Amino acid sequence: MANETARSVGPVILLGPPGAGKGTQAKQIVERYGIPQISTGDLLREHVARGSSLGVEAKAIMARGELVPDELMYGMVAQRLREPDCRRGFVLDGFPRTAAQAGWLDAFLEQELFENSEMCPPVVIQLVVDYTQLLLRLTGRRSCPTCGRLYNIHFQPPRVDELCDWDGTPLITRNDDRSEVITERLTAYEKQTRPVVDYYRVQQRLVPVNADQTVIEVTAQIFGVIDSHRSECRLPAK
Ligand code: AP5
Repeated sequence: MANETARSVGPVILLGPPGAGKGTQAKQIVERYGIPQISTGDLLREHVARGSSLGVEAKAIMARGELVPDELMYGMVAQRLREPDCRRGFVLDGFPRTAAQAGWLDAFLEQELFENSEMCPPVVIQLVVDYTQLLLRLTGRRSCPTCGRLYNIHFQPPRVDELCDWDGTPLITRNDDRSEVITERLTAYEKQTRPVVDYYRVQQRLVPVNADQTVIEVTAQIFGVIDSHRSECRLPAK
């Protein structure tokens, strides 16, 4: 385990539709490799909660299930990636989500991160899940507003109904997990994010993972992908 948190990991990009398990798996990666999770959805929700100018612009767009314009995303993501905890690597959950964002990220990593740090190149993991399963995962999702733990009333229910196992906080349902908004989010994925999958596939950087399995089974596949990527990268311990 010491080795997992000492050597460079590099950027881990999790791609997949809403409900594929990006956030769930990002948390497992954080725990094993000691790198931060960067969820653009969570960052945007924080902006909305504190009423920043970005939050004010993003709020209505997110409530409709549409994507926030690319230009609004870049500053927020760049600022987060420049923080020192990203030097060994990071998990991107929810970014890039358009072909333009994927191009922007490649340029940013090339110019800013790889120049100044010994970082493995990105590994891009696609979580592949059946459509019916996605709907169950989204409609059943609950989260703890205190510690961020995720539950699902169908698959991973809390021990006590609607309360966090960890700290007893009442669980909440995300504003965009209503069925009419879910449909919009899945449509946005097909139209705007599917080209990102193609972008990485053409470059032979895409590693598909069967995410239609239990959380533990999906995690095991992902750790296998990251470990083999790191052994090919062979950077010295820092
Ligand atoms: P965001 O917060 O990124 O949401 P999303 O992509 O729609 O993804 P989700 O968080 O819904 O799903 P997930 O894949 O993380 O699944 P989870 O692990 O939670 O984005 C929200 C909005 O912000 C967007 O609509 C957009 O407006 C805006 N936005 C964000 N990034 C943007 C960007 N880059 N550009 C423009 N706009 C952007 O799991 C779901 C449920 O399933 C949970 O209940 C979980 O417990 C359960 N589950 C997970 N894995 C399994 C399993 N293997 N088996 C059974 N249940 C499971």
